[in-house]
Amino acid sequence: MSDPIRIQFVCLGNICRSPLAKAVFRDKVEEAGLEEHFEIVSSGTANYHEGEKADRRMRKTAERNGLSLEDHRASQFTAEDLERFDHIFVMDKSNLNDVLYLDEDDQYGGKVRLFREFDPEPEDYQVPDPYHGGRQGFENVYDIVERTSDMLLHRLVDEYDLAEHVGENEPERMEEGREES
Ligand code: 4NP
Repeated sequence: MSDPIRIQFVCLGNICRSPLAKAVFRDKVEEAGLEEHFEIVSSGTANYHEGEKADRRMRKTAERNGLSLEDHRASQFTAEDLERFDHIFVMDKSNLNDVLYLDEDDQYGGKVRLFREFDPEPEDYQVPDPYHGGRQGFENVYDIVERTSDMLLHRLVDEYDLAEHVGENEPERMEEGREES
């Protein structure tokens, strides 16, 4: 098996937007049976919440949509991540500036992109920070992350020629299903 495609989602606090993006994108990767082909993590540019669980409001929003963020613990983005990851998807332009600030020799800019570049309805290309708002803001982030992750996975499947691997674990899963019944 070749190296996985290393993906990192980045926001400010790593308790709202990027943990959700990681969970939603990972869910889509698993649905496609492509989990062996990806390493998926998230972080924040700030260390305010290091080691904390995801924001309770974001956990609830995820739960309402069938996803769990319970295992998440916040961590901070580091300059080493610029080298280690193949794609760094940031939630807003301030995250973009903060990440690129760590790229002292301007080597890695090509890896760093606004996540919403992949949104079919990108508006201003930023995932709004829901932290100081109400529940509607969290639901809005979910909707954005859901449709953007879908498109992002399609684009990566094309870029890395993964179409032939989609669903490749399916026979095993069906086998398991038969054993259970
Ligand atoms: P996130 O949201 O960047 O989506 O995790 C925020 C979390 C915490 C703060 C700001 C945004 N904060 O200021 O503490």
